[in-house]
Amino acid sequence: MVKKWWMESVGYQIYPKSFKDSNNDGIGDLNGIYEKLDYLKDLGVNLIWICPFYDSPMDDNGYDVRNFFDVAKEFGTMDDVKKLILKAHEYGIKIILDFVLNHTSDEHPWFIESKSSKDNPYRDYYIWHEGTIVDGVKREPTNWGSFFGGSAWNYDETTESYYMKIFSNKMPDLNWSNEKVHQEMIDVANTWLDLGIDGFRIDAVSHLDRAPFEDTASNGEKYPLDWYKFSNLPKVHDYLKKLNKEVFSKRNCLTIGEVGGAASIEEGIKYASYESNELSMVFNFDHNWCNNMYDITNSKKLKVHVKDLKKVFNNWQEAFKDIGWLPLNWLNHDQPRLASHYGNYKYPLQSTKMLATALHMMRGTPFIYQGEEIGMTNYPFEDVSEFNDISSKANYHYHLEKEPDNPVKAIKKAGLRSRDNARTPMQWTNESPYAGFSDTKPWLAVNPNYKKINVEKNLNDPNSLFHHYQKLIELRTKSIYKDVIVYGSYKIIDLEHEELYIYLRKNKDHTLLIINSFSQKKVKYSLSNYEILDQLISNYPKTTLKNDDIVLKPFESIVFKVKEKL
Ligand code: NOJ
Repeated sequence: MVKKWWMESVGYQIYPKSFKDSNNDGIGDLNGIYEKLDYLKDLGVNLIWICPFYDSPMDDNGYDVRNFFDVAKEFGTMDDVKKLILKAHEYGIKIILDFVLNHTSDEHPWFIESKSSKDNPYRDYYIWHEGTIVDGVKREPTNWGSFFGGSAWNYDETTESYYMKIFSNKMPDLNWSNEKVHQEMIDVANTWLDLGIDGFRIDAVSHLDRAPFEDTASNGEKYPLDWYKFSNLPKVHDYLKKLNKEVFSKRNCLTIGEVGGAASIEEGIKYASYESNELSMVFNFDHNWCNNMYDITNSKKLKVHVKDLKKVFNNWQEAFKDIGWLPLNWLNHDQPRLASHYGNYKYPLQSTKMLATALHMMRGTPFIYQGEEIGMTNYPFEDVSEFNDISSKANYHYHLEKEPDNPVKAIKKAGLRSRDNARTPMQWTNESPYAGFSDTKPWLAVNPNYKKINVEKNLNDPNSLFHHYQKLIELRTKSIYKDVIVYGSYKIIDLEHEELYIYLRKNKDHTLLIINSFSQKKVKYSLSNYEILDQLISNYPKTTLKNDDIVLKPFESIVFKVKEKL
């Protein structure tokens, strides 16, 4: 059996701008993370993923890197990074950083050189094209859309050419068919690993190769977003094998690729099976949109598609069971908040505890997104001026263009899915007006519900969501069930059940039965196949067992140690 340190880890994702502001400039920073290491230790996590804090003009909050070898002034200094790594390691907490290799900022010196002339030595670091002439008029080389709206190309007057950028205009895509780019990025990775970090979450990794530059079929949009033109294409795997050979395999480091772009399970396996010699695991997004969010404007009408959700998790779990490892995360800094998206507003505590158990008892490495452990929710956006995120603004205008007379609907739609939901400042206390995040007005508004939902309140209440997460983490990292929870087999029971997600984890010593109800009503379920030996965790004070049946209360979730009856 393959065993690695990261398989036994529980991760926590930090969005530094929103975690904790230590110097009261309204922006979270590295020293803020340092101050809160005790909190993370208390929660029990032993791995943190920190989103980019490199020097950046912040067009995309740090994913637009200007200098890979320095820290953005608002986040701190290189000495702060070193101090953070040291203390985290002292606490037994490993650190992975975002490795952004698909693009740089347009203010990166390579790009400044690259755009300066066609024969500049850095010209081929990026993807340039003269454009296409249609009816005597010059236009973009292809009609491809970008993730943040508009064309995937931007025109630059200096050399009268277009450069490719699948995110914002200020994020030109690197040209991975140029081997010099490989060497540069190898240097970046080595520098940070030498500094003592333990690995990377690799940003936008599936986009490093592009299809031939031909228009995609029109879908009525001027610039249709066709993921297949720049996602999961063959050369990505060559590039990753090279990075693995030259960097990752020489260190005992964790690498998790972000593989959006309609990556199927088969694609996932190509990146991250034990045999692929590319990445340790991949984040996929198949489980992120199993509700009716795209069709509604009212968050109270969100409905989870339980069977779809179960099938997604089950398919990935089954496919990777003997051949690879998976991260387990609900949502991240690019998505809405778990409590609002999949939780239930009438049963916030029970439903979020249930969601936590459902995920944390699976096979894989759990990742908690900051604030998830205290039940932070979406922000009640009412005006486009409340958005900071570039893609949320674009999405608002997209909806407004469809229905110009309905700005309320546009804000509701854009708000439901806005990345800013996950980026509002962490709610540490009930202290007015900035929830203990900062003494100065933060860069993004604090959610007005901070008096009800905050860390302090969670810590003081033994029945809180925080303590539920703490217990789940303890079970996985310290209890006698550690081995079965980490390495045991996974098997779903009653895949077709409309409301319950039930699975078994098993090794030679223990069998655990994990039952999660996604229903607002009571649900009866027969346990006649099992002898109940113990109860490890649940989200209600009492379990109702009647003869061989369990009667589950709304969103009840429970983990039994059982013996299967033959
Ligand atoms: C994925 C990151 O998670 C997201 O926040 C970012 O905007 C894009 N990649 C571009 O770097």
